[in-house]
This record gives sequence, structure tokens and C-alpha cells, in this order.
Amino acid sequence: MNVNYISYVALTKEFLPFFQSEKDTPTSFIYTSSNLALVPILRCSNYCASKAALHHWILCLREQLKETNIRVIEVFPPIVETELHDPKHQPDMAETVKGRFGIPVGQFTKEVSFSSFLICTCAADLVV
Ligand SMILES: NC(=O)c1ccc[n+]([C@@H]2O[C@H](COP(=O)([O-])OP(=O)(O)OC[C@H]3O[C@@H](n4cnc5c(N)ncnc54)[C@H](OP(=O)(O)O)[C@@H]3O)[C@@H](O)[C@H]2O)c1
Repeated sequence: MNVNYISYVALTKEFLPFFQSEKDTPTSFIYTSSNLALVPILRCSNYCASKAALHHWILCLREQLKETNIRVIEVFPPIVETELHDPKHQPDMAETVKGRFGIPVGQFTKEVSFSSFLICTCAADLVV
């Protein structure tokens, strides 16, 4: 909860007054969420719950800031091969995935991140 939820709330609280003071400068808060915020899986219930907390908080923040210069964007990445899936972090998956799970980071940054950003931006517009 500290890393996936409380840190986002604390950082946003610290940055918000400055962002609000720059009324003529369009800006954004961009948060890394997870599809598991929406559809939980059994083997990592706490992770899912922490991301769900972040997701619902983001929905409220976006509504609270809708008349301001600040946009609120939530990114839902696909499964990406990062240290998150290393056996040291997820020993129960070590045998199954052998440390390789998801698309390579390079592929994600080249092919997916820009389109994900566009999708999330459009989704943010729809929610607003
Ligand atoms: N990879 C995926 O498949 C996937 C899918 C959906 C969402 N996400 C989300 O994407 C984000 C990035 O994950 P990732 O896959 O890039 O994982 P990662 O490679 O394990 O990176 C996690 C980062 O968080 C930092 N971190 C962890 N605990 C911290 C703490 N207490 N204080 C400060 N920094 C801390 C780590 O710092 P150190 O390197 O110093 O430990 C590391 O830089 C996460 O929010 C994750 O939930 C990932």
C-alpha cells in the first residue's frame, strides 16, 4: 500500500499547490496503474487491492480537478518483462516463467507506450 497507493497520494498532495498556481499552464498527473486494479487474480490479492485503491482514488481526483489546468491520466500497462517478475520478487512463479514474463521492456517502450498513452488520454477525456 505504501508504494502503490500512499506514495502517489503524498506526492500528489505536495505537487498540487504548485500545479494549481500555474493556472495558464496545462499539465498532467500521470499514474501507473494495472489491469489487476480492475480484474483481480488470486495469487497477488494485496497487489490487486493496492492498485484498485489507486484506481478509485484517481477517478475521484480526475473529477475534482476537471475544471482546472490539470489532467489526470491513468496508465494500464500490459505485462512487461521487468524486475517485478524476477524470481526474487515472485518465487512462486520462478519455475513456470523462468524469470521471463511479458513483452521485453524495449518492445514496450517502442511499440506500446505511445499508443497506451493515447488510449489513456482518450479514456481520461471520456471519463471527464
Ligand atoms: N511489469 C508489468 O508487467 C506491469 C504490469 C502492470 C503494471 N505495472 C506497474 O508498473 C510500475 C513499474 O513496475 P515495473 O514492472 O517497472 O517493476 P520494477 O522493474 O520492479 O520497478 C519497480 C520500481 O519501483 C521502485 N521501488 C520499489 N519499492 C520502492 C520503495 N519502497 N521506494 C521507492 N521506490 C521503490 C524500484 O526501485 P529499486 O530498483 O531501487 O528497487 C523500481 O525502480 C509499477 O507500478 C507496476 O505495478 C507493471
